[in-house]
Amino acid sequence: MSIQDFKRAAAEAALAHVEPGMKLGLGTGSTAAIFVELLGQKVEQGLDVVGVPTSEATRELAERFGVPLTTMKDEPELDLTIDGADEVDPQLRLIKGGGGALLREKIVACASKRMIVIADESKRVERLGKFPLPIEVVPFGKESTLRAIAKLALRLGLEGEVVLRRSEDGCPVVTDSGHVILDGHFHRIDDPEGLAAALVSLPGVVEHGLFLGLASLAIIAGENGVSTIEP
Ligand code: A5P
Repeated sequence: MSIQDFKRAAAEAALAHVEPGMKLGLGTGSTAAIFVELLGQKVEQGLDVVGVPTSEATRELAERFGVPLTTMKDEPELDLTIDGADEVDPQLRLIKGGGGALLREKIVACASKRMIVIADESKRVERLGKFPLPIEVVPFGKESTLRAIAKLALRLGLEGEVVLRRSEDGCPVVTDSGHVILDGHFHRIDDPEGLAAALVSLPGVVEHGLFLGLASLAIIAGENGVSTIEP
């Protein structure tokens, strides 16, 4: 079985949590994309749900697969968000934003009664931080914000670089909300709550990819089948 199969198995298992009439948050990334495709098949078979996409990419996918969409404006409270993750620790704390959609993903997850994470086994970690932490910042003064984050990290005992995310053409990656992303290569984050609180206190920081206390269930698929993590 390949990673792709595991992603599909996790996405399939998440479908069991979707009930008719639900308002869903639709995550971003390759695992969430499989979920959107499977959801589209259920909709075709008559399932009545609406979704709010967490990115323009997911919006396009949902439209392609026939998942009816709504907006946060029309549906400010959602029943369930299904999304992928870059890292999941045993306490169900996450790093997200590898795909650059962390801001909308967090807004949608916070607006949902429940968030289910779907992932392959490679995302399961004992401690967060090996995956670089995405931090969304406003473009104005991004160099100063980068320095401020680097200083803050040092003060918190985190070692490693903070780097502006660039696309293949060398230009800064711009998010769906018009911001840029700094990736914090901290290697190990021993106190995610402390780091999260410190990051949001910095001017210029819009959001970070630490999702703490947000997920209610993780569905992880691997060689040994599908397992779950609950907080
Ligand atoms: C998108 O911004 C991310 O938060 C994704 O959810 C995360 O990168 C997981 O993506 P994959 O399912 O493609 O690994």
